[in-house]
Amino acid sequence: MLNIPGTLSHYKNPLADSALQYGDANKELLSVAKAQPVIASISQWPGYQETALHGFSDLAKAINVAQVYYKDEGQRFGLKSFKALGGAYAVARQLQGLIAASGHQEPSIEQLLAGEFREQLRDIVVSCATDGNHGRSVAWGAQMFGCGCVIYIHRDVSEGRKQAMQAFAAEVIRIDGNYDESVRLADSEAKRLQRIIVSDTSYAGYMEIPKDVTLGYTAMLAEIVSQLQGEIPSHIFIQGGVGGVASAVCGYFWDLWGERRPRLIVVEPEQANCLQLSAKAGKPVAVTGELQTLMAGLACGEVSLLAWQILADGVDDFMTLSEQSVAPTMKLLAQGFGQDAKVEAGESAVPGLAAAILAAESSEYREKLGLTEQSRVLVIGTEGATDPVLYQQLISS
Ligand SMILES: Cc1ncc(COP(=O)(O)O)c(C=O)c1O
Repeated sequence: MLNIPGTLSHYKNPLADSALQYGDANKELLSVAKAQPVIASISQWPGYQETALHGFSDLAKAINVAQVYYKDEGQRFGLKSFKALGGAYAVARQLQGLIAASGHQEPSIEQLLAGEFREQLRDIVVSCATDGNHGRSVAWGAQMFGCGCVIYIHRDVSEGRKQAMQAFAAEVIRIDGNYDESVRLADSEAKRLQRIIVSDTSYAGYMEIPKDVTLGYTAMLAEIVSQLQGEIPSHIFIQGGVGGVASAVCGYFWDLWGERRPRLIVVEPEQANCLQLSAKAGKPVAVTGELQTLMAGLACGEVSLLAWQILADGVDDFMTLSEQSVAPTMKLLAQGFGQDAKVEAGESAVPGLAAAILAAESSEYREKLGLTEQSRVLVIGTEGATDPVLYQQLISS
């Protein structure tokens, strides 16, 4: 036993069926074909490096499964989370579109990077609401591709995360409300001030730009496929906020692997389980109230509607994880289990791994999730120490 404390809850999605085809409506949103040019572009950005896929063999032995793969996004582009891929890519797409709409031929992202349109883009402002990581990506993209940036954060976003966005020259505005309120304020201010909202969540009347954000995440998934060298995992545990990254994981692997795709398990905080509740209700429903959780990136009360389109019948299991599991799992990764690699993982990076460990160590959950000693489990460590002060506190607690 690894002595990770905590509890899980589980809802098996009655709509999931491994024989279901990946439909055309989903392909319109996200597909392997649509992902290809995205990956080609992102891999040309300055500082691009594939992130590591660790095989945690000793951990796998300890929890009696065949392998645990951990995709470590903690170093992604120096921004320390997979979110670097989405927001910045969507900023580039918006700027390309604007230049094309002004009568020029659509420039390549490389031309934007070379600063060829800086003059024209100087007065353009992109904006969003964020828990931290998405905003950091938008701010970085705005600086890299040459436009202005205003970011809205809610009352619980740490000072460290705020400063990280300011470091990319973004104006950062803190509000008194929660995440969903910051989304609404960013949206209304953008309408008033003619800013372009680049959000990682979609909602009625705002359904286009988040498609590019989610497509950006596929660069990480393409890396995983090449790193697995032909192997297909049996299970994926992925953490859920608004469902964007889960929908990328779901759609990309469903399109790529069809019926052989892994069993997909989405893991959320107990107080912010909008995906699990939506599955139970059979339609998107919101969690209201405090959304209190240490897992800041997952403190979302409303599902992204685009994500839900893919997740509704693509996710096999919706789980929640208790707060007390988070810091011990971060500590386990920081120390490295046995001979396994040591990894710096933030609070929102570990829920998938924590849930996999707790489930594999419980006969009830092994049965519920079909985990056996042959299972090859993939988890995505979606962030590193994105708030270094908090990280140190948690791993030394
Ligand atoms: C580190 C990290 N992991 C996971 C997520 C969840 O992503 P999504 O909101 O797309 O479900 C977030 C969201 O901000 C995040 O920052």
